Amino acid sequence: MTEARAKILVVDDKPANIVAVQTLLKDMDIEIIEALSGNEALQICILHDLALILLDVRMPHMNGFEVASLLRGLDRTRTVPIIFITAAHSDELHELHGYDVGAVDFLHKPINDQILRSKVTVFMELFNLRRDQKQDMKLLEKRRLQVENEIIERKKVEKELKHHRDNLSNMVRERTAELEQAQDELRDLAGHLNLAREKERQWIAQEIHDELGNNLANLKMGIQWFKSKPCQEQTSYQNQLGDLLDQVNATIRKVRQITLLLRPPVLDQFGLLTALEWQAKEFEKSAGYSCRIHPDSVDMDIEEQQKLALFRICQESLTNISRHAEATQVEIRLIMDKDWIQLSISDNGKGTPEALSLNPNRSLGLRGMAERARQNQGTMKLTTTPGKGTKITVRIPTSNKE
Ligand SMILES: Nc1ncnc2c1ncn2[C@@H]1O[C@H](COP(=O)(O)OP(=O)(O)O)[C@@H](O)[C@H]1O
Ligand SMILES: [Mg+2]
Repeated sequence: MTEARAKILVVDDKPANIVAVQTLLKDMDIEIIEALSGNEALQICILHDLALILLDVRMPHMNGFEVASLLRGLDRTRTVPIIFITAAHSDELHELHGYDVGAVDFLHKPINDQILRSKVTVFMELFNLRRDQKQDMKLLEKRRLQVENEIIERKKVEKELKHHRDNLSNMVRERTAELEQAQDELRDLAGHLNLAREKERQWIAQEIHDELGNNLANLKMGIQWFKSKPCQEQTSYQNQLGDLLDQVNATIRKVRQITLLLRPPVLDQFGLLTALEWQAKEFEKSAGYSCRIHPDSVDMDIEEQQKLALFRICQESLTNISRHAEATQVEIRLIMDKDWIQLSISDNGKGTPEALSLNPNRSLGLRGMAERARQNQGTMKLTTTPGKGTKITVRIPTSNKE
């Protein structure tokens, strides 16, 4: 940007005086404007940004003091520096002293060129300084506005970001709720399936018992009748009937065993402790080693569903022990109080593989047990020591009875 030169107004009613000043200042980097009267000077002052006014005091119509006084009265010209030019030894100097409104300095005629040039230089530099300062202020203001706009823009972006973040967390929340609901539905479904399976088992047990059992019993009676009729000549016939009877007896025993396993009547008729005692005894008979039960509290009346879950968990544990544990001893412990039921089944077998003890949910049988516990708002834990055995602990609250 090229800087405008500093402007200096020279006011004198005698053109020759103006020319003299112009000559003295001609090689300076300034623009000189001339005015031949006070009136003309006032008009120029309003139009231009002046660095200095060289003002002749003695002029017709309006003298220099009157011009200065009027300039001090206007906002635009109040601060423009004025140097009065007076005739030497005139008493205009006294007036100058009395005049405290605007005289910055004064010069005597004839003007000394050194003094004039040095004074003009000072005011020109002052003017340039002020102008640079104004430009700096303008730049600063521009920068301030830019920063203000940047802040507004950033706030807008932050608002949008927050909006997106809120949207995202809403979506996550909704998705989580959906997943939780799906999980609940799955759990309900599993519970429902378990219930249906139990009903089915009950029905199958009934059928086997009523139909098959009766049929077999009739068959047995028929064969016995045959057998009771002596028929010496047909020993082989007798022997065959005897074999048949043995088979029928074995079938009846098997049917009873299956029936009991599917839905032991003891479960419907007695409390949990009695049902577990029966289960332990059955296990001892089939496994051939000891299965002791420790009732650490009296048997309590609990909900049908809870009784069934604990009974099935015990049944599955005992099946696992007979299939996998290579144990010689099993202990069942049942603790019931008003808030909790805790059932644990431990064996002294070879222990469960490490990976399963860390995550019992990975295997179907164990997972089914854990799911039964969960459906009753409870937990299942598997602890094991290699070579020393496995312990399953199930804990479920009884509180929902109240
Ligand atoms: N009491 C136990 N002693 C030793 N290993 C066991 C015992 N119970 C479970 N396991 C191990 O855990 C595995 C998973 O058991 P489970 O989920 O019931 O499935 P499955 O009996 O059909 O193999 C078994 O295959 C067995 O290796
Ligand atoms: Mg199993």
